[in-house]
Amino acid sequence: MNREDFEILNSGIVYFDNAATTMKPKCVIEAMNDYYTKYTSNAHRGDYDNSLKVDEEYESVRSKVKNFINAKDDSEIVFTSGSTDSFNMIVFGYLENYLKKDDEIILNKGEHASLLLPFLVLSERIGFTIKYADLDNNILTVDNIKKLINKNTKLVALSHITNTIGDIRDVEEIGKLCEDNNLLFIVDATQSIGHIKIDVQKMKASFIGFSAHKMLGPTGTGVLYGKKELLEKMVPIRYGGGMNTEFSSDGKYGLKDIPTRFEAGTQNIAGVIGLGAAIDYLSNIRMDNIHKREIELRRYLVSKLSKIENIKIYNPDVESGLVLFNIGDYFPQDVAIYLNQFKICIRAGNHCAKMLHEVIEDNTTCRISLYFYNTFEEIDLLCDALKNQDKILDTLV
Ligand code: ALA
Repeated sequence: MNREDFEILNSGIVYFDNAATTMKPKCVIEAMNDYYTKYTSNAHRGDYDNSLKVDEEYESVRSKVKNFINAKDDSEIVFTSGSTDSFNMIVFGYLENYLKKDDEIILNKGEHASLLLPFLVLSERIGFTIKYADLDNNILTVDNIKKLINKNTKLVALSHITNTIGDIRDVEEIGKLCEDNNLLFIVDATQSIGHIKIDVQKMKASFIGFSAHKMLGPTGTGVLYGKKELLEKMVPIRYGGGMNTEFSSDGKYGLKDIPTRFEAGTQNIAGVIGLGAAIDYLSNIRMDNIHKREIELRRYLVSKLSKIENIKIYNPDVESGLVLFNIGDYFPQDVAIYLNQFKICIRAGNHCAKMLHEVIEDNTTCRISLYFYNTFEEIDLLCDALKNQDKILDTLV
């Protein structure tokens, strides 16, 4: 679907690593190129035409993001360098002043480093307790979160879709649970934002974070959404130009209103403009069509993979484009190197989800992550290659 918009796909690669980063359509590249070739200037600092155009483009993307995730107000959208930056801002800009020693928070072991690691560091500083919700058959359930809630619980943080098992979490139900128990609800939307419709009001999220490059946009750009009343209380973790109202040698300083106070220094303007083009592109295709296509591709992939000898699939029944598997005793990286000879790109390893092995009992896996531009023929090529598994080690010698 829409393959003609992705020049890179003409190079003969079979790209199954879309959870790592997606390909970029021409319109995204052109929008960024236009900024660099036709109206380069800084944002929020100039009084000349090109700079005013940049201000307009940059702020219009804020409104596009707001509409795309159904936030209430543009001021709830902060541009960041990506999900990692967004979660560090939440943890060290908000939670560091909010959580206390006797508090508890609820996470789970299926999560990526960008969500878990800031919490581990903050817990070391403050001393609050981290509780990990059990995964049943590798899947997070609402009940397993509910069981852990007590009078000390302050928040639940999780991915909408993880980058490994890829189960789509029932964020509306979990959001309601959090609201009923007066808990903050932090959602990592990195793996869902480009794949299914996100509605921050329906999921009653306190904060969410995501990266542009996983949704057809450029690297180095992302978003932090926070409810207005929470962002008003969050402190910046970076200070500098563009975000202050005044500062003087007597030590006084003032900060601009949200969201500008969180965007110190020159921002990734081209990146933000590229993100805007990606949102337009995804909106034109429609998120429900993207999800439908991914489910069709995934079902085909799982049914073909299951027929191959020695394959263990860790997440056969989820409804995202992620398939995690191992093949016999082959080391996953050897499988990835073998597939590379056919220009088939997959990811192998622990996928930055370094606690997951405590649940699935295998340290490393192979991961296929599909997107709408993948084809059934590409899946056939992959499965044909995997059928010849006795050749896997030949590539290495
Ligand atoms: N988080 C990215 C992945 O899952 C890099 O591959």
